Amino acid sequence: MGHPRVDAMLREAREAVAAARSSADLEQVRVRFLGRQGVLTQLLRSLGALAPEERPAAGAAANEAKRELEALLEGRLTAALEVERRARRAHERFDLTLPGRRPPRGALHPLTHVHDEIVAIFAGLGFSVVEGSEVETDYHNFEALNIPRDHPARDMQDTFYLSESTLLRTHTSPVQIRAMKAQRPPVRIIVPGKVYRRDVADMSHSPMFHQVEGLAVDRHITMGDLKGTLELFAREMFGPGSRIRFRPSFFPFTEPSAEVDVLCFVCRGGGCRLCKQGGWLEILGSGMVHPQVLKNVGYDPEEVTGWAFGMGIERIAMLKYGIDDLRLFFENDVRFLRQFA
Ligand code: PHE
Repeated sequence: MGHPRVDAMLREAREAVAAARSSADLEQVRVRFLGRQGVLTQLLRSLGALAPEERPAAGAAANEAKRELEALLEGRLTAALEVERRARRAHERFDLTLPGRRPPRGALHPLTHVHDEIVAIFAGLGFSVVEGSEVETDYHNFEALNIPRDHPARDMQDTFYLSESTLLRTHTSPVQIRAMKAQRPPVRIIVPGKVYRRDVADMSHSPMFHQVEGLAVDRHITMGDLKGTLELFAREMFGPGSRIRFRPSFFPFTEPSAEVDVLCFVCRGGGCRLCKQGGWLEILGSGMVHPQVLKNVGYDPEEVTGWAFGMGIERIAMLKYGIDDLRLFFENDVRFLRQFA
């Protein structure tokens, strides 16, 4: 059956398909015969010009030819793609003898190292870790800690206020208040965290830095317990030969108060650049919890006593690693950070 023009075209198409060597060749054949300007497409379009009695037979033949050609191309294309996929695979096979590429390895930030070390020392002594909120109320940050209304720390110049009664905590001490309000003595906690002060960044100032607060409250807690605890801390942190000394100081929330120095571990007290010839390095503020603070949280100062300290993590890290510019911790220069890997 058929139609002479359709039959001729179909023969030609079959030959072209047989001659195709790749999926790209087959695509060319498809375009040549079945594309918008393709031979068969044009032939179908020209049927309208035939005499009405010739049209049905020619139309049927052309449609039949179209279906046959589509099926033929489809089959050949599937086979060609499979062959090409295999060839590509053979080429791409993994070379298991190639050396691997090591993933770049990160490292802990020096402040994280020091933070972890401090926490581990106190955890070993039975202290639990508590984290407060960086957004605090004026009451917890100042009022409950016995810091008077006219204290300079409460000045807008020194504190980031969020509203009249809320602020970014200026120290970790407000967590003393929250922890004591949340539980009955005995209390043994350390509180690591970020604190904020309105300082312009320079070698020794940063508007954000880190502190660790320590607090122990129980019956019969004395300043001797504080000294013993901090002596042990210094030996763990700065080496077995470490010595500390207490200097009388003042904080509104402790009485008596003391600043604690560690014997300079570079010159062993002789005087050097690190300790600025003084022989001692200041590491923290501390004292016996003020009776008024105990009352503020509902504890009876006749029944329980306690001590507290607060130290700066950056300060400890600077001393330990001999870093002389605080800004290095926050600039994230990998050449600096890599040294602590
Ligand atoms: N909160 C004090 C400060 O930031 C440090 C401190 C804590 C002192 C606990 C005594 C007791 O300077």
